[in-house]
Amino acid sequence: MSMSSTNIPSLFVGDHPLMQKIYGMVRRVANSDATVLITGESGTGKELVARSIHNLGSRASQPFVPINCAALPEDLLESELFGHTRGAFSGAVSSRVGMFLFADGGTIFLDEIGEMAVSLQAKLLRVLQNREVRPVGADRSTAINVRVITATNKDLAREVEKGTFREDLFYRLQVIPIHLPPLRARRSDIPLLVRHFLEKNSQKYSSPLEISDEAMVYLWEYDWPGNVREVENLIERMVVLSDNGRIGPEDIPSHVRSFISEKKLPHPPLNDDGEVNLREVLEQFEGRLIDEALRRTNGNRTAAAHMLGLKRTTLVAKLRRKKNFGTLMSSPESTNDILAS
Ligand SMILES: Nc1ncnc2c1ncn2[C@@H]1O[C@H](COP(=O)(O)OP(=O)(O)O)[C@@H](O)[C@H]1O
Ligand SMILES: [Mg+2]
Repeated sequence: MSMSSTNIPSLFVGDHPLMQKIYGMVRRVANSDATVLITGESGTGKELVARSIHNLGSRASQPFVPINCAALPEDLLESELFGHTRGAFSGAVSSRVGMFLFADGGTIFLDEIGEMAVSLQAKLLRVLQNREVRPVGADRSTAINVRVITATNKDLAREVEKGTFREDLFYRLQVIPIHLPPLRARRSDIPLLVRHFLEKNSQKYSSPLEISDEAMVYLWEYDWPGNVREVENLIERMVVLSDNGRIGPEDIPSHVRSFISEKKLPHPPLNDDGEVNLREVLEQFEGRLIDEALRRTNGNRTAAAHMLGLKRTTLVAKLRRKKNFGTLMSSPESTNDILAS
């Protein structure tokens, strides 16, 4: 990678090549007013990307206004975005400035745009095309100068096909598409993020914390369906709950510890003729299940045997055979390591 880590925008942690690409895009689009559509799973950093684009551009000293389009019902969202006049609807006891006007000169970030009702999409499109807003109940529009960045964890192209998202708005919004990869697609960033959030929370709770290598392996292998947000929350929880200044494997929640990542599931080994040897596949799978059981029980053979529904002697015999095969171990902490420790 030609880009050095000094090019990482200040809010971000992580230097995986996939993220270096994102940082490059963020810097380039920051210099324009182009409409950006950020996609990616929840917790991958979509809002952080939007903020960074704003912070690095010429609008940085003006407001950045994030709105979650999924948080409000259609009517309320409309008046939140565009404002309303006094008496525009029952309950509108005073007039209200909408967020588009509030963001004038700056950036509005419309999060979860895929949740916006189709009728409101039409009104948004008009605002984008005419660069003016008309508050609910008003008879005149006001010109605005707002950069629009949107985000969604939905596949908007599919929503367009289904008829739940307007095609014209879709094209209008995704002038520059930025797709954030899930954390499991950039695992090398996991330890960096873990250390970052450890440090942050250690400061917040004034309790310096370290993490053991073994504990880090579990975090590295886990698939993080909630992405960076899940890392952030889990580390905070572990900092709060820890009592000895050190996070060990026993501090890792069981759903993380017992996770078997995709790469550990058996891929049927093919021989030279492209055939599968069922016995070998089964043995390999059995070996992995045994590894996993030992991992969950910290190498306690009696407990592992119980977990697998085997007699202890059967497990020991299988382990002995497995050891002789030798080739079945693939994870960094193989059974041997666990048994030795
Ligand atoms: N690369 C990153 N480095 C540091 N913090 C991150 C990173 N990505 C996400 N975060 C943090 O994780 C949380 C979720 O990020 P957010 O931008 O809200 O995700 P999304 O909008 O995609 O759901 C936020 O607290 C954010 O600051
Ligand atoms: Mg978000």
